[in-house]
Amino acid sequence: MPAARLATLLIAGVAALAGLAAGGVHLVSEGRLRDVPTVAPFATPIPADSASVARGEHLARTRGCFSCHGDQLQGRDFSEDWPDAGTTVAPNLASLARAEDAATVERALRHGIGRDGRALWSMPA
Ligand code: HEC
Repeated sequence: MPAARLATLLIAGVAALAGLAAGGVHLVSEGRLRDVPTVAPFATPIPADSASVARGEHLARTRGCFSCHGDQLQGRDFSEDWPDAGTTVAPNLASLARAEDAATVERALRHGIGRDGRALWSMPA
């Protein structure tokens, strides 16, 4: 076999091995990033009286929920505000609150874990 062909095969082999190693590192790292521990839900009943609802709205306004999730918490794509962040969509919280239980919402707020179990991105927990 000519030396040039042997060198080409060698380079291709090394490149393939490097690709496999990089893929392996990527998979292990993704696995670790997505390995979020499950936490026991906060077991306190949620009050629904008007004073508590008003306090909740005040907290949501002062903590910035409306600025990211929209004026009616209807969800918002705020990537125009943060062009460097790529596509960033804060989901519709009004429908999420109807579809999910309090423990799911609490896990997102206090621990940064979404309803699908993955770590939330750019959502301040
Ligand atoms: C800086 C912008 C920002 C602020 C402020 C913010 N959020 Fe979020 N929120 C997001 C983004 C973006 C996501 C989606 C993250 C993802 O899918 O990885 C999210 C996700 C969530 C989720 C989880 C949805 C799911 O799919 O499980 C809940 C619940 C939530 N936000 C509630 C709130 C509440 C309540 C507040 C105010 C206390 C708030 N957020 C403030 C940006 C924000």
